[in-house]
Amino acid sequence: RTGARVERQPLARYTTLGVGGESEVWFVADHAQLAEAMEQPYRILGGGSNLVVADEGVPERVIRLTGPLAQADLTPDPVLSTPEQIVTGWVGGGVPLPGLIRKLQKLGLSNLEGTVGIPAQVGGAVWMNAGTRYGEMFDGLHTLEIVTPQGTRQVTPDDLAWGYRDSGIPRNHIVTRVRLRLRPSTPEEVLAKMDFADHARKGQPKMKTPGCAFKNPGGGKGAGQLIDEAGLKGTRVGAAMIAPEHANFIVNLGGATAADVHALLALICDRVGVPLDLEYELWP
Ligand code: FAD
Ligand code: EPU
Repeated sequence: RTGARVERQPLARYTTLGVGGESEVWFVADHAQLAEAMEQPYRILGGGSNLVVADEGVPERVIRLTGPLAQADLTPDPVLSTPEQIVTGWVGGGVPLPGLIRKLQKLGLSNLEGTVGIPAQVGGAVWMNAGTRYGEMFDGLHTLEIVTPQGTRQVTPDDLAWGYRDSGIPRNHIVTRVRLRLRPSTPEEVLAKMDFADHARKGQPKMKTPGCAFKNPGGGKGAGQLIDEAGLKGTRVGAAMIAPEHANFIVNLGGATAADVHALLALICDRVGVPLDLEYELWP
């Protein structure tokens, strides 16, 4: 009725792991189409860069933000911006984060360059508060628009209990768009910071992967080091492997199944002496 495009498609096409069976994908370009898609059980798909989707796909509608919900208006808001702080127009949840970070660098706008190299969409990156040691999404947010089947609301970071890899936004509350809060700088300064943050990725694998499997436990050793010290680098189940380059990444050698990845995650939890908190999201 609202004109949303609906297609059955393999989700493997939309995940960086390259795994995931056929599901009903709703491409929504505005709030009316989104409201229609949300009338039945749904999931929201971003860049698919943190997902392990079942080979059978998922029974729910899978929503993708497209059109205006995947566009960025980086024009400084004349009312909200000051000489010290630029507040942008609306940036759609479906905007690919890497391109946005490059644009901000060219404009000499700072605060988000620490997230360089994260292959997410803005909405998914905000929902997870994706980040690195050099910065996270909540460093550069002014306002968030969140849509649920009950309606649309606008919040600020102060309204949310956000932290490490966590926005405090409940699952399936959709981040449709955000206004960014940026610091005026120069393209050179932002580029230098970006290059520095990017350097920390040199040891990460280049194969198909959903990134780090487990969150770093607070305090002592990171998850990668713990898995490495358990002697698990290079361990394979089917076509899924613990990356030899970095033990907290699971890679798809080609033709991996979700079951392969699940078995490898269980093996890691079994062998590492410390309880680990999963970062990947398993669908279902
Ligand atoms: P998806 O994987 O599509 O979805 C993840 C979750 O977000 C799901 O629950 C989904 O429903 C939800 N979601 C998606 N879009 C929205 C929306 N609009 N509103 C509400 N919820 C939504 N992560 C880091 O934090 N730091 C890193 O350095 C990092 N490096 C990575 C490197 C590689 C090579 C890869 C493949 C991944 C890496 N990741 C990293 C993991 C991943 O990029 C992040 O978890 C990212 O936040 C996932 O965003 P996405 O848009 O791909 O979301
Ligand atoms: N290490 C090992 N063995 C390994 C991997 C790492 O000993 O197999 C050691 C390293 O030598 C280093 C330490 O562990 O001393 C930390 O490793 P690294 O610098 O690679 O950082 P990380 O803590 O493993 C975190 C994020 C990454 C992010 C990088 C760079 C988490 C779970 N991971 O990795 O985020 O890209 O820092 O900032 O917080 C993600 O979340 O998906 C992700 C990739």
